[in-house]
Amino acid sequence: MSSVSSATRVLLSKNVIFNSGRALSNTGRIKFYSTAPQYENIKVEVVGQKKNVGIIQLNRPKALNALCKPLFQELGKAVRDFDKDETISAIIITGNEKAFAAGADIKEMQNNTYSTNQKAGFLQEWEDVSNCGKPIIAAVNGFALGGGCELAMLCDIIYAGEKAKFGQPEINIGTIPGAGGTQRLPRYVGKSKAMEIVLTGNFIDAQEAEKMGLVSRVFPVEKLLEESIKLAERIGTHSPLIVKMAKQAVNQAYETTLKSGLQFEKSLFYGTFATADRQEGMNAFIEKRAPNFKNE
Ligand code: CAA
Repeated sequence: MSSVSSATRVLLSKNVIFNSGRALSNTGRIKFYSTAPQYENIKVEVVGQKKNVGIIQLNRPKALNALCKPLFQELGKAVRDFDKDETISAIIITGNEKAFAAGADIKEMQNNTYSTNQKAGFLQEWEDVSNCGKPIIAAVNGFALGGGCELAMLCDIIYAGEKAKFGQPEINIGTIPGAGGTQRLPRYVGKSKAMEIVLTGNFIDAQEAEKMGLVSRVFPVEKLLEESIKLAERIGTHSPLIVKMAKQAVNQAYETTLKSGLQFEKSLFYGTFATADRQEGMNAFIEKRAPNFKNE
């Protein structure tokens, strides 16, 4: 299937069985895609009371979800499909209890050369995740190392299980982060902490990551996915159009000066007044009722 449009979905199961077989029945029924591509390295599911939350589970448990090229190609496709699907409000990327992802696949790149990296545009497909217009939540249990930590940072919000471990250990294997670690990490935690993490290769635990601002909240391991789904559902109560504009505006803060960022924000703010959902939101407030957003 080329897209995950609602017409091609079939509800096959009543319970979400995810992460060590825990049932998330209180988060609603799960949809599998009967005609979904046969992914080998990820699992793709739709959950939530309104079936509006797309979950992508990295699924190479024996390799601690090492991020090989085929995995990233599948991840990119799944993200693009959810981004196009109007019934999906937010996306969650997760792994398993032992690993979110232990980094780029060292076995795959072991014999790469400078010229093969250049010619192949090594790691370029990772941009599919950062190009997504919809909010992406990283739900991190276990190791998020190297490219795993970088993948989490490509997402918009990071929730962690209390046993999660983050790090940029590339220095241990004679290289440096190559998918944003040296650029995004300082923006999350500041220069001194980012330097310490990148130059030592040391891991930091979930509690420390929360204190530093890398992670927004920490939960018991078995609650992480449920809480991530709740967050996605909460975001899903808003106008998708306005959510997209809000995401663009926050992301712009990492790309520009304060002055031009404020201009960008103002243009988008004015732009919301060209939408029916802005009118509906304000009308609903004045009329003391819930808004009925139409994504228009
Ligand atoms: N690439 C390929 N395979 C990996 C891997 C990786 N990044 N991380 C783990 N694996 C494999 C191991 O080789 C092992 O496979 P075998 O059973 O075939 O030997 C399997 O996963 C289980 O791993 P361990 O036996 O090492 O498990 P552990 O519990 O003893 O240790 C760990 C866990 C501390 C995470 C350890 O596996 C580790 O240090 N992994 C590498 C972490 C790392 O260096 N990541 C950065 C990669 S480079 C990068 O990401 C570049 C970039 O910026 C894009």
